[in-house]
Amino acid sequence: MTKFTGIQVCAFDAYGTLFDVHAAAAALKGEIGPEADRMSAIWRQKQLEYTWLRSLIPSYKSFWDVTQDGLDFAMEECGLSGRKDLRQKLLDLYFKLAAYPEVPAMLKRLKDAGLKTAILSNGSMDMLDGAVDSAGIRDVLDAVLSVEDIGIFKPDPRIYKMVTDRFGLEDRGAVAFMSSNGWDAFSAAHYGFQVAWINRFERPVERLPGKPSAVLPDLTTLPDLVGA
Ligand code: LAC
Repeated sequence: MTKFTGIQVCAFDAYGTLFDVHAAAAALKGEIGPEADRMSAIWRQKQLEYTWLRSLIPSYKSFWDVTQDGLDFAMEECGLSGRKDLRQKLLDLYFKLAAYPEVPAMLKRLKDAGLKTAILSNGSMDMLDGAVDSAGIRDVLDAVLSVEDIGIFKPDPRIYKMVTDRFGLEDRGAVAFMSSNGWDAFSAAHYGFQVAWINRFERPVERLPGKPSAVLPDLTTLPDLVGA
């Protein structure tokens, strides 16, 4: 795989890329029952759909609110609507999602090599703070950037621009951007970042503009790719 060159900043999508979005339902599998995996998949899909639709309508509300709307849809679809206690437990867990196991050491290696690191996420700042602190990765991040400051979701180009603005970069190609979400990876490549699509879920390529320069199964070898 061709290594990225001239990288100054490594920016990461949060949900699904650094943090395991299915960890909340997995932890409560016994309580949810046989619909746990399907419920979690619908929850994630509706959460994302609502971000795209609300950006188009436009009718912004925070990712935390959208996350609750997605959960309510998913619980109803799976016949779990009446379970208020379960809903609250799922949300509490979602607020402090676990990071994937390779994440802390990978971020430290990037920092040790002198690269800047950032999160660029749809997540509202309170959710991101909760997840960053529970994962213990605050001291290996230079910036946590939330779409909340602009009031629209990815893949609006104003969101990707937050990274170059924050670090005062003229050249979009000096940013390595990592996302496990194909649509986010392709859109960020279209924007001009050097992109590694972290294809954790072995999905087919998106039929969208933009082409990630690299595809990795997880974040373990990212430091090699960016020359750290
Ligand atoms: C995020 C969503 C896309 O963290 O996972 O921005």
